[in-house]
Amino acid sequence: MSEEKKPALLSKIVSALDVMYGFDVAYYNPENGEIMTETSPDDMLLDLEVRDNAEERLEELIDRGCILLPREYDLDDTPIVISFAEKAGEPELLEVFHGRGKFRAFKDAARRLGLIEDYYAYRLGQLAVIAREWCQNNDVPYIDDVADNAGEEEDKADDALIDAARKYAESLFAGRSDGHAFDHTERVYRNAMKIAEKEKCDRTVVALAALLHDADDPKLFDTKDKANAREFLCSQEVDAEISERVIAAVNSVSFRKNRGKKPDTIEGMIVQDADRLDAIGAVGIARTFSYGGANGRSLYESVRHFHEKLLLLRDMMNTRTAKRIAERRHEFMLEFLSELESETGAGK
Ligand SMILES: [Fe+2]
Repeated sequence: MSEEKKPALLSKIVSALDVMYGFDVAYYNPENGEIMTETSPDDMLLDLEVRDNAEERLEELIDRGCILLPREYDLDDTPIVISFAEKAGEPELLEVFHGRGKFRAFKDAARRLGLIEDYYAYRLGQLAVIAREWCQNNDVPYIDDVADNAGEEEDKADDALIDAARKYAESLFAGRSDGHAFDHTERVYRNAMKIAEKEKCDRTVVALAALLHDADDPKLFDTKDKANAREFLCSQEVDAEISERVIAAVNSVSFRKNRGKKPDTIEGMIVQDADRLDAIGAVGIARTFSYGGANGRSLYESVRHFHEKLLLLRDMMNTRTAKRIAERRHEFMLEFLSELESETGAGK
């Protein structure tokens, strides 16, 4: 083996690790960089002769410099399941994960919670980590075409800018306490970043748009063409193209202006979802009555707001993550309204 090894595509290694069945062996061929599979000589269901042939074939491949990938039984999904369950913050996922059939029980629970696709995506990311390590340990050159860590460096550089946007928003809403105080912006930002984790998007645009989304709310400020947001972006010398994407995302948030219309960009969809999530659930109930009180609305007028707007929001979410969160918050509002009705005798 004097010739140079050809690089493998990381995505091919990941799919080999992902779909490997019990009795297949996957290997890297240094001559062409390909990831191939072979029948395993360990498959007891096969004839002895076939197994012998498979064994010979594998020895020949290894002699030629091919390297076997980890087998299915060398790969343990347990740490992947545990770290996913912890990140998801759903105790049920860990509670069911024990004893025989724990993987099945875990997947059933993840499906019930609407998290199964998130789990598969997370698992693929973890397999990519294993694949990179395997390449490094076995001296296999590879092309990293799995971009789960891409942009980490840039994210760090943007921290200062995002911090400045937070401070700016905080100063704009200083002294307010009617449901449009800074804490709303802060929650929208947190919701947005949570959704962004699961989407292919520009996180800086999402963060800035979330923090600036109410900076020109006509109910609060008398500005034109998002002048406050633009002024802030300009003061930070944010690249013109990024600024326009932030403004476009901010423009897509408004409920009234965008009724029935989906934002054109994923960043817009995320911030719109994040803002709408803060209008429903327990926080939505609290904000509705706080706003109602501040604006002289009666209890019943506030309740009407649930039927006219808040109960419609669940079905208007754009992203999977937001749909999942909205489901739970919607149920909670229905429960609250029925309790309110039974206590007040309304709706009878
Ligand atoms: Fe908002």
